[in-house]
Amino acid sequence: MASAQQLIGLVKSHAEGDVDRFFDLAMQLSAAEEQKGHTRLAEQLRQWANAGRAPSTSQLPKLTPIAAPRGDLAQFLVASYPAERLNNVIVPAAISDELAQIVVETRLSEKLEEKGLKPRRRLLLSGPPGTGKTLSAHSLAGELQFPLFSVMLHGLITKFMGETAQKLKLVFDAIKTTRGVYLFDEIDALAAARGDGNDVGEARRVLNSFLQFLDEDTGPSIVVATTNLAEILDRAVLRRFDLVLSYELPDATSIRQALERRLIGFSTARLGWTKVTDCALGLSTADVIAAAEDAARRAVLDDRERITTTDLLDSLMRRRSLQGLGSGVNAAKSKSLSPKKSRQPTPVSSQARRRRKGAD
Ligand SMILES: Nc1ncnc2c1ncn2[C@@H]1O[C@H](COP(=O)(O)OP(=O)(O)OP(=O)(O)O)[C@@H](O)[C@H]1O
Ligand SMILES: [Mg+2]
Repeated sequence: MASAQQLIGLVKSHAEGDVDRFFDLAMQLSAAEEQKGHTRLAEQLRQWANAGRAPSTSQLPKLTPIAAPRGDLAQFLVASYPAERLNNVIVPAAISDELAQIVVETRLSEKLEEKGLKPRRRLLLSGPPGTGKTLSAHSLAGELQFPLFSVMLHGLITKFMGETAQKLKLVFDAIKTTRGVYLFDEIDALAAARGDGNDVGEARRVLNSFLQFLDEDTGPSIVVATTNLAEILDRAVLRRFDLVLSYELPDATSIRQALERRLIGFSTARLGWTKVTDCALGLSTADVIAAAEDAARRAVLDDRERITTTDLLDSLMRRRSLQGLGSGVNAAKSKSLSPKKSRQPTPVSSQARRRRKGAD
């Protein structure tokens, strides 16, 4: 373990905004852990130290200045500058490590390219609604201080029937010339549209063009696609991505983390955490956070700073019933006995998905 002095030094350098000192101390800690044979911990420390390091301007590709999309592009490409950071995303270490590594690879892309390697830039995030896929894309942009460009796939299809491929090409031209994180949210809408109405052929064509452009894409932006239904995407789709991350419903540890973060500023000292997390199993992280906010609102209106177990159980139960998850702790407990099964991303009909989103 790190010495008390090292820990104080680390926190102090962070508090003082001394990035170089923070980086040096983190690397020292990593080296010390490596020597003790704690290879995984050492690797994680190195990753996060690198991810937290501000890129020097020489490490960034020189590109045209960021401008809001214009002309046709403005109709289906929305630019924003997210403030979220990767540590806002509550996911298992395997996923947060990969996301941090993407940040490092992007920042140090020149170093990789000198040795004939490329940073991974095409990501597919799959998993149930409300598990942090869109938030992760925003956080990647926030962490890298890149603009986020959200591609409105649905608008693209309905507005530009028959000429979607040309319009999509405009997006991929932008991907080449304007560095950013480009988010293609819910690409399953394209694949799932089969047999679903008049725009079927068009949706299929957009998907095919998307895959073709993805193949041709050589950087320097990051492309993030998300889906609720990875199982309907065939291997031809999946192999186009450098990294596929499967998000899951939160386990007890993540649920507690989400609740504690959202309830900072309230007293949660005597909470019956096991009861609370049991009751929340099966809900998405978005639902868990919404339940925390609900409980907090009630406490504030009652002039209380303490959140009770009952407050949280009540608000979680309301969320369960809104999501049609059955009432209860028993149902939740039986899920907790087979966590793997309960956390598998389950296919959700588009109608059910809309209902869930409406409830968020
Ligand atoms: N893993 C998470 N960590 C922290 N907050 C989360 C997480 N997942 C969801 N949230 C909260 O819920 C909100 C909605 O999550 P998000 O839009 O990222 O879900 P999603 O996985 O993209 O869902 P969908 O499949 O419906 O698009 C986030 O803005 C955040 O407040
Ligand atoms: Mg999303």
